Amino acid sequence: MNIQTTTVSATEIEADVVAIGIWKDEPLDGPAKEIDDAAGGVLSRMIELEEVSAERFSTSVLHGPAGVKAPLVLVVGLGSKDDVDETFSYRVGGVVSKTVGSKQREHVATYINVDVVPDAICGLINGCVGQDLYMEKKKLNEIQSVSLGFEVSTEDLTRGKVLGESIRLTRRLVNMPANDLHPESFADMIVQTGKESGFEVEVWDQERLERERCGALLAVGKASTRESRLVIMRHNGGTESDAPVAYVGKGVTFDSGGLSLKPTAGMLDMKCDMAGAATVVGTMKALAELNVKQNVIGVVGLVENMIAGNSFRLGDVLTSRSGKTIEVHNTDAEGRLVLADALDVAIENGADRLIDLATLTGACLVALGTEIVGVMSNDDDWSDQLISAANTSGESVWSLPMHKYFSEQLKSTIADVKNVGTGRWGGTITAAKFLEEFVQDVPWVHLDIAGPSFADKPAAWIDGGASGCMVRSLVQLAESL
Ligand code: BES
Ligand code: MN
Ligand code: ZN
Repeated sequence: MNIQTTTVSATEIEADVVAIGIWKDEPLDGPAKEIDDAAGGVLSRMIELEEVSAERFSTSVLHGPAGVKAPLVLVVGLGSKDDVDETFSYRVGGVVSKTVGSKQREHVATYINVDVVPDAICGLINGCVGQDLYMEKKKLNEIQSVSLGFEVSTEDLTRGKVLGESIRLTRRLVNMPANDLHPESFADMIVQTGKESGFEVEVWDQERLERERCGALLAVGKASTRESRLVIMRHNGGTESDAPVAYVGKGVTFDSGGLSLKPTAGMLDMKCDMAGAATVVGTMKALAELNVKQNVIGVVGLVENMIAGNSFRLGDVLTSRSGKTIEVHNTDAEGRLVLADALDVAIENGADRLIDLATLTGACLVALGTEIVGVMSNDDDWSDQLISAANTSGESVWSLPMHKYFSEQLKSTIADVKNVGTGRWGGTITAAKFLEEFVQDVPWVHLDIAGPSFADKPAAWIDGGASGCMVRSLVQLAESL
């Protein structure tokens, strides 16, 4: 998508569609008023007749209004001015793009100014691209060229484009089915992205993983016909002596549950179980392209959790890379096994602060619903920094208590820990408590993105499927350090 600014007015611009916004309970102003005046008051009349609504994200189209060069005017309701929050700019961009993208468009001009221009651009880039990757006649069509009819600094324009494309990459990876995206092809795509965007990539193949004693990660991937991988990405934006921050992602390209097999309904969407890893990759792309002045490493563990005669079993004892032994009580609690080794690799690479992202527990959906990321940490200052970056980016996160009591549930009678708690209650927290066993004393935040990373239905501003959540927050966090 080409995005540029324009100084041509909303009535004069040659475009397939011109988008304008109207506020609830406010008189028309700016481009909306210009169009209304040029078209002899047709817009105000339609608002009066309640044919055009100013309710937030309702959309209406004026066909061939007089005095306007573009054949179509998309009118987007912006709702009332007093309840605009940090999610608004991204969503406005998405609504325009998704509505207009229902057909092929060469050139769209939008005159809807918002507070956070880069977010609006992210929305524009992502609204018109959906999960119909394999459909001959797409439901959403990429807009070729978008003109922004308001003041935009070159800095904001670049930032919006980079973040928008990074989110798009994350979403595409997550939306790809597991027959196309498996550990090896995923690693190849990371190598490719590193070359294009300018970050270093180191891939550990199966043999290297064995040499590196990644016993927990390897156990999960063992029954797959696809080999496992671990990928280390490095963005060296700070001074050489600065310890890096690490972003660590769960990359289970498909989670069948293993011998603790999932039922059909629970397995269907499990191509999304690498969303944590995809978020790390999208973030590294953005950090490199935006030249963020901070050393950041990304570590992703890529495996497929399948079934075969050589599956890891219930009761097996695994030796993790850290040396801690793990008794397996459920092969469907596999993400934490992958992360145990990936976190250890991040620490060995000198990380002095850790963030991990994972579609880790269904229990997080029960606790927080589909829109909110669960935050668990061993360090209040570090988690406050993450939460404030997320708040700035308009991404919803909420802390869960890391009470000691949950660790007691992980005691095993034959190994150092077992991989699940006792019973289902507090499953999101016991999972985090398990991870805590592998972060030593390094400040660490665990983000359970099982809810928001993958939606089962579309919103007005984005298709269903992968959302690309937390890319903006993680970039914001790195910039704030
Ligand atoms: N990948 C799943 C968690 C998940 C569920 C992500 C739904 C997205 C949507 C994870 O590996 C898993 O299976 N967790 C188990 C843990 C249990 C066995 C302790 C779960 O949530 O049931
Ligand atoms: Mn699982
Ligand atoms: Zn999983």
